[in-house]
Amino acid sequence: MIQLIKGFKDILPGEVETWQRIERVARNLFGDFGFKEIRIPIMEKTELFARSIGEDTDIVEKEMYTFPDRKGDLITLRPEATASICRSYVQHKLYAQEPVRKFYTIGPMFRRERPQKGRYRQFYQINVEIFGVASARVDAELIYLLNILCQRLGVEDVAAHINSLGCPKCRPGFKTSLLNYIDSVADQLCSDCLRRKDRNPLRVLDCKVPTCREAMTDAPSIIDCLCDTCDTEFQILQSTLDRLGVNYMLDKRLVRGLDYYTRATFEIQTGSLGAQSAVAGGGRYDGLVKLLGGPDTPATGFAIGFDRLAEIVQMQGDDLQRKPDAYIAAMGEQSQALAFDWVCDLGSQGFYIEMDHQGRSLKSQMKRANRLDAPYVVMLGQNELDSGAAVLRDMATKEQTEIPLERLVQAIVKRSQKK
Ligand code: HAM
Repeated sequence: MIQLIKGFKDILPGEVETWQRIERVARNLFGDFGFKEIRIPIMEKTELFARSIGEDTDIVEKEMYTFPDRKGDLITLRPEATASICRSYVQHKLYAQEPVRKFYTIGPMFRRERPQKGRYRQFYQINVEIFGVASARVDAELIYLLNILCQRLGVEDVAAHINSLGCPKCRPGFKTSLLNYIDSVADQLCSDCLRRKDRNPLRVLDCKVPTCREAMTDAPSIIDCLCDTCDTEFQILQSTLDRLGVNYMLDKRLVRGLDYYTRATFEIQTGSLGAQSAVAGGGRYDGLVKLLGGPDTPATGFAIGFDRLAEIVQMQGDDLQRKPDAYIAAMGEQSQALAFDWVCDLGSQGFYIEMDHQGRSLKSQMKRANRLDAPYVVMLGQNELDSGAAVLRDMATKEQTEIPLERLVQAIVKRSQKK
């Protein structure tokens, strides 16, 4: 038997209804806040991700699915969507039509990480990005959106963590003091940290190796090094969140795993998923559009780990599978043919009807109807065909009604509409 690739997974009926529900709720919410859907390709030139996410990050160094196409050009399965959306924004000059653009996209991403619960090599993200607004108020709007989405999905065990990563003006000063600290604990750091520290000391703060985390406990905080503008924006973020009634905590270690961030960064974390605590992550990336050849444009956004959110929602035990509106227990070839016509007729009118095609006994068909939780069962055999009326059983009340065959479709419609 050929099995699926390690770290990839099927989303089966039973789970998929949760995914559909999340997507429905998210699309409605984003629509209410003026976001438009954008669809971007699954593959891009490798250079796009290397430049945007940063050469020193885990994603670019170790996790990308990169390969030469038949002409030898290096292409990569997208590990995230922000770089592609920025590429599209620049390529199609989307800034020229409207000063503020708000997009969302939903789809699979690929990272060759070590698979475990909540961490996959193909995973899905719900991405939201805003271009053209510099104010931290919209960073707060994004966190508010995440909050509302969780509320609407009944997800409670979540907390917003926020931090600021400063800007090209104040970050160099912070990097210097961070590097001094790193050098003082260098003997406790892993080889990745030692290799990256001089080029990008912030990456050391993001290292997941427990001894590195321990060694970095007393590292300086960027919050103490922010320039006046960054400090003011960070205050605006917090006061807006306060006004919107969003709970959050300051998290000075939150540097995120991608290099493009400036100022506000945030994550929605949960205790429900073991080691994989981040359900969503994002922040401001004011320099990325320019880096990719576009005009100097402030931008901010987030991505929700769809798989993780679906796992949490599923733990709540929702049974969202569509149940039949009725089951037709047809016995004999002629009854099956008639039942099949009814199934198609009712299906075309928006009613889901199940039937048996294998000529099983009435008893086993009633069992199946029960298992499928069908509220009504129509019993149709040679006697019913001869008498011109079938029996319709209400499975909850056990009440049985005889209905003329020509009125049966109508009777099912009437009862299903009432439910
Ligand atoms: P990220 O933190 O790399 O950010 O990913 C966002 C979310 O995707 C994570 O919080 C997590 O829930 C989910 N995720 C990441 N890797 C995996 C995985 N291997 N398996 C399952 N879920 C995963 C970004 O990707 C940024 N582009 C977010 C952003 C948008 N920033 C600004 N705009």
